[in-house]
Amino acid sequence: MTKRQDSYPFFCSIGCNIHAMMKVLVTGGAGYIGSHIVKALGERQYEIVVYDNLSYGHPGAVLYGRLIQGDLADQVLLHDVFRRERFDAVIHMSAFIVVDESIRDPLKYYRNNFVNALNLIETCLQYRVYACIFSSTAAVYGIPDKVPVTEDSPLLPINPYGASKVMVEQALHDVSISAPFRYISLRYFNVAGADRLTRIGQARKDATHLITVSLRTALGKNNYLDIFGTDYPTPDGTCIRDYIHVDDLADAHILALEYLRKGGGSAIYNCGYGHGASVQEVVNRVKYVTGIDFPVRYADRRPGDPPALIADASKIRKELGWTPKHDDLDYIIRTAWEWEKKITTTPQTHP
Ligand code: UFG
Repeated sequence: MTKRQDSYPFFCSIGCNIHAMMKVLVTGGAGYIGSHIVKALGERQYEIVVYDNLSYGHPGAVLYGRLIQGDLADQVLLHDVFRRERFDAVIHMSAFIVVDESIRDPLKYYRNNFVNALNLIETCLQYRVYACIFSSTAAVYGIPDKVPVTEDSPLLPINPYGASKVMVEQALHDVSISAPFRYISLRYFNVAGADRLTRIGQARKDATHLITVSLRTALGKNNYLDIFGTDYPTPDGTCIRDYIHVDDLADAHILALEYLRKGGGSAIYNCGYGHGASVQEVVNRVKYVTGIDFPVRYADRRPGDPPALIADASKIRKELGWTPKHDDLDYIIRTAWEWEKKITTTPQTHP
């Protein structure tokens, strides 16, 4: 067995076909975004172990690698897995993500998103796994003063969900100073869409995201779609978001992993396309793509929604060479639509 270097375990002395040798742990890899990352890794022959408690994930969503059902709070299992598997890198995806819920039950979010992340980071250090990609969020910015938002904008989260992610970023930063540990934090904007071949997609029945809820309304699962707020300081009065296809986001993870492998230092990157669409525009495109004119209700603002969130993603494009392939709202909606139709007609897709 090849002996590992302590400081940069990624470096390969023979420098060829390194993917085949890289073993990556993906926490939360059975979830919506995680499963697309696993797919991207698998297509490139990385060796993958998914660690997921299946609270929201599905075994059927894991297209590549091995799935270990486990919780990050279970330190005995976590240590056992690290001891047995000898990872080269970790992609940490598992987290709770519902903003409203985080306001109602903050400790649930701090425990899972922050404390469990500390368990993982600590275990990484113990087993000398010194490379980590962290799934962060645009929610770390709260209500930004200006858009597009750059990575050095102030971190002023307005809910425990965003705060829990800021805390993990802080911990990663501090650990990267005290140990030979490097990380990339990817701050996701509004992730949507599904696999081109309709194998995986958003499977949560209680999903609250605009595109998913709109499509399910088009399918008749809801009586109408609520548009939350029409009096925002935007051209049509509805909120603007930067919608990014989940496969483009998955590619960003591969680039981040490769960057660390080549010895790149810790960094933080926004992941978005750099332009936005309003809620009204999204609803109009969903109606166009599906060909279904579902009922819409103009409702009050939803607490905690910033008027506009758009990424300045020039840093990831420049430094990692990220070149999105699906910067097209209709494509995002179309792939999600095919997925929604599939799970409606074949609910056993993810048993
Ligand atoms: N919206 C509606 N009706 C709905 C659902 C959403 O009008 O039924 C609106 C929201 O009010 C918001 C926009 O659509 O203005 C987008 O809302 P989403 O719930 O789809 O997404 P968010 O922007 O609230 O949140 C997403 C992620 C969060 C992350 C945030 C960062 O879900 O995890 O982006 O931008 F924190």
